[in-house]
Amino acid sequence: MNERTPLKIHSDEEAQYEIDDSDAEETVGLSTGSKYLLGISCIAILYLFTVFLPNMFIPAATNLVNISKISEIDAVLSPVGTSSSKRHVSRLILIGDVHAHYTELQHLLKKVKYDRKQDYVVMLGDFITKGPDSIKVLDYLIDNEIDCIMGNHEYNVLQNYAIFHGLQQPQFELVPDAFVPSTIRIKDSFNNDPEFLLAKKLQPKHIQYINKCSVIKRLGDTPIMGKNKPKGVIPGIAVHAGIRWDITLSAQDPEENLEMRSFIGPYYNETTSDPSLPDAVSWSKIYNMKQKEGEAVERVSVYYGHDARRGLSLKEYTKGLDTRCSRGGELTAMVISSDLGKHDEVVYTEETVSVQCQE
Ligand SMILES: *[C@@H]1O[C@H](CO)[C@@H](O)[C@H](O)[C@H]1NC(C)=O
Repeated sequence: MNERTPLKIHSDEEAQYEIDDSDAEETVGLSTGSKYLLGISCIAILYLFTVFLPNMFIPAATNLVNISKISEIDAVLSPVGTSSSKRHVSRLILIGDVHAHYTELQHLLKKVKYDRKQDYVVMLGDFITKGPDSIKVLDYLIDNEIDCIMGNHEYNVLQNYAIFHGLQQPQFELVPDAFVPSTIRIKDSFNNDPEFLLAKKLQPKHIQYINKCSVIKRLGDTPIMGKNKPKGVIPGIAVHAGIRWDITLSAQDPEENLEMRSFIGPYYNETTSDPSLPDAVSWSKIYNMKQKEGEAVERVSVYYGHDARRGLSLKEYTKGLDTRCSRGGELTAMVISSDLGKHDEVVYTEETVSVQCQE
């Protein structure tokens, strides 16, 4: 009403002018037309900002490949050249859950005096999500050809990526029965789950990098440490959460490898990610016990992350390296070195190095 009244007066005035001024009618026509124009512009602007521009910034999709269950490092840890066709490195550096803390990752690499030519770095999973710089971390790992195993959060981002781009869900290689992931939550396009939002922003090269991280990685020979001194050599593997002691490496269930924290008694042949369950016992405690009793199916030492609550956990056959960087704790690396001993024998040693993380 308020708008109409002055308009009417206005058009009456225009009508009077019409007698003397032939441009007047056009003015009336334009004001109606400009309302349409305004309406159309509003729709166009809305479309521009809600559909067109956002779509321009959505990276192209890349197809997912099967995630490999077991791979091995692309180098040999040795102080001297070997007959292997792989390059030899003098140190193996395993880094616990970075969770997008790029600055701390840089501090840690500086502290261990990381040298791209001499060192082989493996990320123990969960290097993205939660923290501030997922994409910077990914770009750095890609640019420096740093190796990785998959964490539950990388797997989750792949699942979200598949949902966002309408791709088939990621599958694991070598799994006997078609593996149906049980952790997918139903999502829609207004999903504001941080892992979905991150997945939307990832470029094909980021996805291809994550997709190539295997669940388990064979590391070659690693030390069994006595009191600060190596007392033997054992094949080592990297895995994000843990492995079962009662089955072979190739029979492991990837979902357990990415999520487990405890075994459930009385047989300790079932796992859970929830350590507060009644019969749950830390997986590493059972694993070490079974290794010492000679009951473990495979004699391997395990380097893992995932268990921020238990923090740094160094045992004879298991080394837990997630030291809560995403919650203001520390970021930790296990540095495994190979040197020549007194009688030219190869000696492996290892030590942890940590830096403080900002919350
Ligand atoms: C665990 O071991 C018990 C006793 O040997 C057996 O009955 C049970 O089926 C096993 N469970 C799994 C999941 O392998």
